[in-house]
Amino acid sequence: MASRQVRVNLLGAINTVEPLLPALCRRGRGRIAVIASIAAYRGLPDSPGYCASKAGLRAYGEALRPRLARYGVGVTIVCPGFFDSPMTDRFDGPTPFLISTAAAARLVKRGIDRGQRRVSFPWPLVFGLQFCNLAPAVIGDAIMRRYRFHIRAVAANDG
Ligand SMILES: NC(=O)c1ccc[n+]([C@@H]2O[C@H](COP(=O)([O-])OP(=O)(O)OC[C@H]3O[C@@H](n4cnc5c(N)ncnc54)[C@H](OP(=O)(O)O)[C@@H]3O)[C@@H](O)[C@H]2O)c1
Repeated sequence: MASRQVRVNLLGAINTVEPLLPALCRRGRGRIAVIASIAAYRGLPDSPGYCASKAGLRAYGEALRPRLARYGVGVTIVCPGFFDSPMTDRFDGPTPFLISTAAAARLVKRGIDRGQRRVSFPWPLVFGLQFCNLAPAVIGDAIMRRYRFHIRAVAANDG
């Protein structure tokens, strides 16, 4: 499960972006947006594979950005919190600050249109997870231990 999430979410994204780079750099303009998650800021219990894939994607995008800047190509790293989607439909657990897909898409589009390096929302979750990351591990673990959830597998008749 964890290795499959890393293959799809991280390696799938990298394998999509890498072939585009030579042409984008030759053209001398453009922007790549990678969809990570607030889970990229701090590993959440119950989803180590997902968190590893998103933290890896965030690190990949952060590393790519200064490398591509000299060619005029921008990189936006998107770290959304919860938005309403088939993925959250399968999520059993608290979804604080849940917003609609349309609202999330608006925030992401606005950030990309402005050429932002990062688009992360909602700020209370971003701030809270960064705090857990910066705090001593024993404190971060004690806070994160309280947050439990389960993601139901896709049913066969869901496609
Ligand atoms: N929903 C949230 O609260 C939330 C929060 C943070 C980050 N995100 C991120 O936002 C992105 C979109 O999430 P979502 O909630 O919209 O998820 P979703 O509704 O479950 O959609 C996932 C998309 O990924 C495609 N997909 C799934 N497995 C694939 C595979 N093996 N190869 C290629 N494509 C595959 C699906 O294609 P099909 O339709 O063909 O199955 C679908 O279009 C994801 O990267 C997710 O991690 C979501």
